[in-house]
Amino acid sequence: MVNRFFERNLTSVRDLTRADFELLFNVTDKIISHHATYDVCRGKTLGCIFFEPSTRTRLSFESAMLHLGGNTIEISSILSSTQKGESLGDTIKIISLYSDILVLRHPLDGSSKFAAEMSTKPIINGGSGTEEHPTQTIQDLYTMKKEMKKIDGLKIAIVGDLKYGRTVYSLLYGLSNYDVTIYLISPESLKIRTDSIYEIKKKLQILESTRLDDHLDDLDVIYVTRIQKERFQDKEEYFKVKGSYTIDKNVVKKMKRKSIILHPLPRLDEIPHNVDRSIHAKYFKQAEYGKYTRAALLGLIINNGFVNDISS
Ligand code: CP
Repeated sequence: MVNRFFERNLTSVRDLTRADFELLFNVTDKIISHHATYDVCRGKTLGCIFFEPSTRTRLSFESAMLHLGGNTIEISSILSSTQKGESLGDTIKIISLYSDILVLRHPLDGSSKFAAEMSTKPIINGGSGTEEHPTQTIQDLYTMKKEMKKIDGLKIAIVGDLKYGRTVYSLLYGLSNYDVTIYLISPESLKIRTDSIYEIKKKLQILESTRLDDHLDDLDVIYVTRIQKERFQDKEEYFKVKGSYTIDKNVVKKMKRKSIILHPLPRLDEIPHNVDRSIHAKYFKQAEYGKYTRAALLGLIINNGFVNDISS
């Protein structure tokens, strides 16, 4: 089997084909069902560079690398010599000397593509500005496939901050490989950036709305996103849209019996905690899958033979 991931960067979901997703899903299944540690990353080091806060992405990458027998080093903006004025380019060059693969989270759009040019080792985009979050999409699609048993044919609402949400753009690029119907639900001021989805718009059936309630009886997946205060230049604009959508028990009652709620997390008040026990709530499962999908990705990038180990 060909391993197209070997020694490659992952900066954008736009670089992934449906076959790439299917390979990642198959490898993830094997990692989960094997219940054992694969040693495919033994002696290899993951360099984690996080210039924005993260709980899930950073720790699931670290945990995935340990699961595969490797180790990790990490740096944050507070602790690095960027505080002394060192450039991002030099920082990446240096950390790539000490690591075999790097994951970068950075507030700027284009940061991971820039880092890929600077690095001598493969770069994984762990979230770049408002642009993309590719590994989130791998776990999002994997969760849909596991929990709904398919992706083709699903009716999927993406709800909340569609303007600044990087998970939203990566998810749309990923879904453009499948036959799905998308409902983009947001306040007027947080509508999708149409220029960012120009090239995939023709591949997807898309309906835009400000009202979630009107579509609840149609939807298979409700993908909720946080309205991100930190992305607003004008905080008054944030307070106008804060709390626009709340997936509370009354909303859940109107959902289709087998539909699911996803969220990349962290959440604020868009999903109250008393919804967590609902059979529809799959966002913690989604976060758990993040470790295994990231392990699949790390193993395939680092070890060309992983694809054969896993199929034997
Ligand atoms: N979903 C996600 O990227 O979470 P973190 O910001 O905690 O990594």
